[in-house]
Amino acid sequence: MPFYSFMISKRPIDIPCTLQERKVLEQIALAARELGVPCYLIGGFVRDKLLNRRTKDMDVVCVGDGIALAHKVAAHFDNVPVSFFKTYGTAQVKWNELEIEFVGARKESYRRDSRNPEVVPGTLQDDQLRRDFTINALAISLNETDYGTLIDPFNGLADLEAKIIRTPLEPAQTFIDDPLRMMRAIRFASQLQFTITDEAFTAIQDNAERIKIISQERITDEFNKIMLSPVPSVGLDLLYKAGLLKIILPQMIDLVGVEMVEGKGHKDNFYHTLQVVDNIARNTKDLWLRWAALLHDIGKPATKRFEQGHGWTFHGHDAVGGKMVPRIFAKMKLPQHESMRLVKKLVELHLRPISVTKENITDSAIRRLLFDAGDDIEGLMMLCEADITSKNRVKVKRYLENFELVRQRLKEVEEIDRIRNWQPPVTGEMIMETFGLKPSRVVGDLKNAIREAILDGEIPNTYEAAFAFLLEKAQALDLTPVK
Ligand code: CTP
Repeated sequence: MPFYSFMISKRPIDIPCTLQERKVLEQIALAARELGVPCYLIGGFVRDKLLNRRTKDMDVVCVGDGIALAHKVAAHFDNVPVSFFKTYGTAQVKWNELEIEFVGARKESYRRDSRNPEVVPGTLQDDQLRRDFTINALAISLNETDYGTLIDPFNGLADLEAKIIRTPLEPAQTFIDDPLRMMRAIRFASQLQFTITDEAFTAIQDNAERIKIISQERITDEFNKIMLSPVPSVGLDLLYKAGLLKIILPQMIDLVGVEMVEGKGHKDNFYHTLQVVDNIARNTKDLWLRWAALLHDIGKPATKRFEQGHGWTFHGHDAVGGKMVPRIFAKMKLPQHESMRLVKKLVELHLRPISVTKENITDSAIRRLLFDAGDDIEGLMMLCEADITSKNRVKVKRYLENFELVRQRLKEVEEIDRIRNWQPPVTGEMIMETFGLKPSRVVGDLKNAIREAILDGEIPNTYEAAFAFLLEKAQALDLTPVK
């Protein structure tokens, strides 16, 4: 990738920029010069370039009218469309892969009961001061006199190097101005593996309740970024300790803690869950598999019992947990269809591979597992393996070996029976046609009986065997074929 050299106070620094980015920056600088407004690169683009992370969004701040600058820049780019919000004084231009945001420098005062700011124009320094974190307040000049100079009044570069999340203002002020920033702080900590300063974290704890004025969509967006971070437990634990998790996802809080009866405790299901999320995150970037890990034990608090002489049990927590998924997804405003169904299914099935190993791994148990999990079998196996959090190495080894055996048997049975996405060879239509029946319960019963017989290995998975079995079952019900 070609490198573009910026200067920081006479100290050259290489910022990796593509040729396209370099050209875009030159056009923005030219447009700003034509309008006579000073302009700067700022925010995530500067931060991510300094960290050598990929980024497609460019934030540009100018001391003047951001919307006018966006239009001028668009004119330089074959008059691409400009989308803008007059109330906020922001505008966006898309150029190939790049999204460029323009805003006029401002000092803002926020109304206490809402996130919508009253916009008041200000200097670059005012603007930097009102940004969320010092690492996001770094600006690079695009002006002729000092092109490429880093303007860093709050030591953002030092914080970037020390991996620290600090607010330019007194932290409570920053978070009261915009409570979403509490989530952002935790998200950056998890995403970049940075540390939030103690003062900032205390301010988050003090102001956690204010997250309630933020829309669920924005909260969920940040939450999902935490879920997608390299070690999600970092962010999830911070959300818990900040007091945000109990507002955002209170069901998770019910998992916290260890109860003791007669000297017997159970594991802390909250920290177990966090470990499972981290485990699965090592193997997949799929958000929904990570969500399945997050919710796999969510039914435990509701099913927890202490049985004399036996200890703690959580019977049925898989089914109860599965039932909780749609409500949680609805509250979080997460997609209600495919993704929710996947998470629900994995929560419901997460004990099955283990129970299969306890049954000597019979063919029929494997066939049933394949039938119920269908194409999600790999995700389910991944979840089950992630669910092993024992500290006992011998146990872990045994579980992993058992799962390896299950995987092997799944492969063998699938090769023979093709159960994934399988439908029994005799359909409901065939049953109705054979006996002259209308859609009814008896048709469903016969269809299920055929399916069960094949899954149990009672009859082979062929049309002939299934049809013969159907005739036999029907005879017992006094049904005779119409032709
Ligand atoms: N910003 C802020 N407060 C917010 C959101 C954003 O001060 N609640 C400022 C920060 O300076 C931030 C910039 O606006 O860097 C751009 O915001 P955005 O594009 O939402 O975030 P990025 O920091 O670019 O990070 P990411 O793209 O990872 O969300």
